[in-house]
Amino acid sequence: MTLIGDSANTRADLSTTDRLRSLVLEDRVHRNVYVDESIFALEMTWVFGQSWMYVCHESQIPAPNDFFSTRMGLRPVIVSRDKKGELHVLMNRCTHRAATVCRVESGNAASFQCPYHGWTFRNDGTLTGVPWPDGYAPEFSKSDWGLAHARVESYRGFVFATLNPDSPSLTEHLGPAASYLSHWIDRSPGNDIVLKSGANRMVYEGNWKLAYDNSADGYHPAFSHRSLLKMAGREGESKDMVYFGGSPDEGAMTVRDLGNGHTLLDQRPTYFAEGGNAPVPGSFWAQQRVAPGRERLEAEIRESYGDDADRLLDLTVGAQMNLNIFPNLLIIGNQVQVIEPLAVNRTQLTWWSTTLSNMPAEINAMRMRHQEDFPSFGEPDDQANFEEAQRGLAIPEVEWVLFNRGYGIPGRQILDSDGVQTAPVTDELPMRAYYAEWLRRLEAAP
Ligand code: FES
Ligand SMILES: [Fe+2]
Repeated sequence: MTLIGDSANTRADLSTTDRLRSLVLEDRVHRNVYVDESIFALEMTWVFGQSWMYVCHESQIPAPNDFFSTRMGLRPVIVSRDKKGELHVLMNRCTHRAATVCRVESGNAASFQCPYHGWTFRNDGTLTGVPWPDGYAPEFSKSDWGLAHARVESYRGFVFATLNPDSPSLTEHLGPAASYLSHWIDRSPGNDIVLKSGANRMVYEGNWKLAYDNSADGYHPAFSHRSLLKMAGREGESKDMVYFGGSPDEGAMTVRDLGNGHTLLDQRPTYFAEGGNAPVPGSFWAQQRVAPGRERLEAEIRESYGDDADRLLDLTVGAQMNLNIFPNLLIIGNQVQVIEPLAVNRTQLTWWSTTLSNMPAEINAMRMRHQEDFPSFGEPDDQANFEEAQRGLAIPEVEWVLFNRGYGIPGRQILDSDGVQTAPVTDELPMRAYYAEWLRRLEAAP
């Protein structure tokens, strides 16, 4: 056993960069990345803020003057659409004496008036009004005191922001992950993704990275979600997620390192025909677990839509990809999951359910039933493990968290021409890829 006194990172004479490097080895990370408040403070600046991060979906602010309040790390921000339709990400921090100017989650407003002393800002951040302006010296100019703002870019409806003026473009940041995100969006060409149907919010007592560590983890379902697999398995071995039991590495599911910390867990091959590389129409629906109203809906859809029924029924089920965009966006099933750090040992996870525009109401209704299924049935299993991992991490003498499954086995990882690495589904390749990016981000800290 390695004791804490043996670790280089505890030496007081190390620079911040050397200390950070000593925390992330190729096949493991040090417990301090989960428990050290000074590391958390660095993350809030150098990961959440300096990296592109997801802030909201355009369908949450579809009309001119719509806004949505969220956070970039610990910074409260407002994502607004001005009267011309342009997007802005504004620091929700009055330039007078720091109070937040917007205190509701979403709405429609051409301007925000700070409740403290009444300064008024247009929804593009411009300071437009100061009560009793005669009380200010002639040099005071409203144009100097607009709300601070972040850079904002949108990828097909997904809005990202960064405080780094030198960041490469969002598309460059997404790299190969962009095509997977497009694949998820294009499952139903002509029908837009809509995040208006509500959110399932959960807070757990653990570090935010425990959620990311889990998001492309094909090793855990057979154990963490045993009850779910057992229930679904009563209806057959091919049912959704049951295939994680048995011998998952002998199947065709994979995990991928998409570069820049983005990762993928791909269950789609489980739905392919023998020797094929595309899902069999109707297989997502056929392999989905029980759901209220399932049999009646299927009968009605088949009768009303004939040959199109398989396609419509498949759209009620997730894309069978866990696509994880560094550092805070997880696309799981049909849902958009957002990781929000609250403290070094406290995290909010929000699952936004999605519907499709121009879809029969009964298809969207079943889509909602399936989106209730996994977080309700499965996420408590995961969050119990996150909290128990945080409890285990409190032991200072046992230092390392291992991500070494699949590491050092020749030929186990395959490198594609676009730089994407692929490995069997239980490998811990995604976590190794993620922490390499995490370190790259934090190394920028002075
Ligand atoms: S703090 Fe906003 S007007 Fe004073
Ligand atoms: Fe899980």
